[in-house]
Amino acid sequence: MRVAELAAEWAERMGVPDSERNRWLRAVWLHDALRDAPDETLHEWASSSPVPGELRHGPASAARAKADGETDRGVLDAVRYHSLGLAEWDMVGRVLYCADFLEPERGFEERDRVELADRFPRDPRGVLRIVAASRLRHTINSGWPLFEPSVRFWNSLVSASGSPSR
Ligand SMILES: [Fe+2]
Repeated sequence: MRVAELAAEWAERMGVPDSERNRWLRAVWLHDALRDAPDETLHEWASSSPVPGELRHGPASAARAKADGETDRGVLDAVRYHSLGLAEWDMVGRVLYCADFLEPERGFEERDRVELADRFPRDPRGVLRIVAASRLRHTINSGWPLFEPSVRFWNSLVSASGSPSR
């Protein structure tokens, strides 16, 4: 799986300990567990989730990972919110959100994608912001609603970088 390869490459280049690398890879393996599951299954695992349709596979996959014994809050939040973003994410959520978007099979402009994937280990915050902007722009351009976690996520990214800049 290419998302896993990308996350593993970043872990190596960033020199994170094995325990942290394992958290990243667990989130990668778990995040799309129920992506192709039928609606009834998604409802069963994420009955209280306010998000519709395919956005439900994140919360459902997280609920199942938890039932299967995953206890790491950062890993579970990474999986649960991987389609939306979350202001409170630790590094696991940020890595998954970016790797999921920058892996080679995505339709994102090839040159930008390669450049951003290469830059992530040096500038995770900068790349996260660019990826978030691109994903949110796509949501808006598609005429889809923005859910509250995504709005808080975006605001956390721009407020963390100081005053508005262009
Ligand atoms: Fe997904």
